[in-house]
Amino acid sequence: MDILGIETSCDETAAAIVRDGGEVVSNVVYTQIPLHQPYGGVVPEIASRAHVEKIREVVSSALGGRRVDAVAATFGPGLSPALIVGYNAAKGLAAALGAPLFAVNHMEAHLHTPFLDTGLDPRDFMPALGLAVSGGHTMWIDMPGYGKYETIGRTLDDAAGEAFDKASKLLGLGYPGGPVIDKVAKEWRSRFGGDDKAFRSSLVPFPKGRVREGVDALGGLDAKACVSFSGLKTSLLRHVQKNGGAAALAAAGEIPRIVASYQEAIVDAVAECTARLLGSKPRRALVVGGGVSLNSRLRERLGEVAADSGAKLLLAKPKYCGDNGAMIAGVAYWRRVCEGDAAMSLDISPSLETGQGNANE
Ligand code: KG4
Ligand code: ZN
Repeated sequence: MDILGIETSCDETAAAIVRDGGEVVSNVVYTQIPLHQPYGGVVPEIASRAHVEKIREVVSSALGGRRVDAVAATFGPGLSPALIVGYNAAKGLAAALGAPLFAVNHMEAHLHTPFLDTGLDPRDFMPALGLAVSGGHTMWIDMPGYGKYETIGRTLDDAAGEAFDKASKLLGLGYPGGPVIDKVAKEWRSRFGGDDKAFRSSLVPFPKGRVREGVDALGGLDAKACVSFSGLKTSLLRHVQKNGGAAALAAAGEIPRIVASYQEAIVDAVAECTARLLGSKPRRALVVGGGVSLNSRLRERLGEVAADSGAKLLLAKPKYCGDNGAMIAGVAYWRRVCEGDAAMSLDISPSLETGQGNANE
């Protein structure tokens, strides 16, 4: 079964054809990053307009004259004016083709990315712990079976990607922050030639994102399954102010140490929370998706954490970590396999919770 997947929840206009949930036949991603760069973050109106301008070209280039059996599109979570463009295009296309339409949860789709282009059957890796780390979300999801999702942990404030992006803006390193911080932090770490103790003692002691029990924002979740990055962000701001501002720190050659310390605090928080959750019950796999899963240090640390727990680490290929249409088509196929026609739905849902994959439920 060939499914066309369309994704426009944030700042990528993307479409892809995936065969039987895994084989990527075509994959087209138009990134709007240069349009948002001057603002240091995604501007919803600009995103929406750019999706409108590009959607036709991206979809027809992904189709490349091929026929598809179904159409799938992200219906949430994401920016309403952005979601609406891709979802309406999918609706129109499905009607014109007389093909079924699948509404897909963006976070569930990120958790499908490790299975793209691998030939793996996701059902062989359940039960799993899902970790979705992106610019808008950081969440831990219990996956007792494929297509079954329960959010068991999350960040109480900023997402990991947002924390990278805000720090980068503060330090004058540009947008998006993740890739540049990853690169600069790697260079700093490489100075210690594998001596982890020396590397760690070189770092600025930023807070590690632990959450206190009894905080209202937990909303019923276990504090051990949650993280918080707002204290880290404030701590970075104070450090920069105390040392004369970003320009003075750059002139003193201090940016690499700060960036490596900040990244290590985020990675430690995510890796330690993941380790606690993997320790709470046996699981076959740790399934990771989202733009921040491109982070080289996070990939390394998650490898250690998974090995300690005996779970297999499943990471996406780098080209599927960021937003793309292939993950939308892939998850739609497996929802169809697991749920049949109930996997279809009707409208966008910007604040969609993970596990609420179908608006008709
Ligand atoms: O999943 P994604 O493409 O879009 C959302 O759904 O949010 O994630 C984008 C986020 C941005 O915050 C970006 O800074 C971050 O992923 N990112 C990284 C890296 N590459 C992208 N964060 C850390 N290290 C990276 N190498
Ligand atoms: Zn995403």
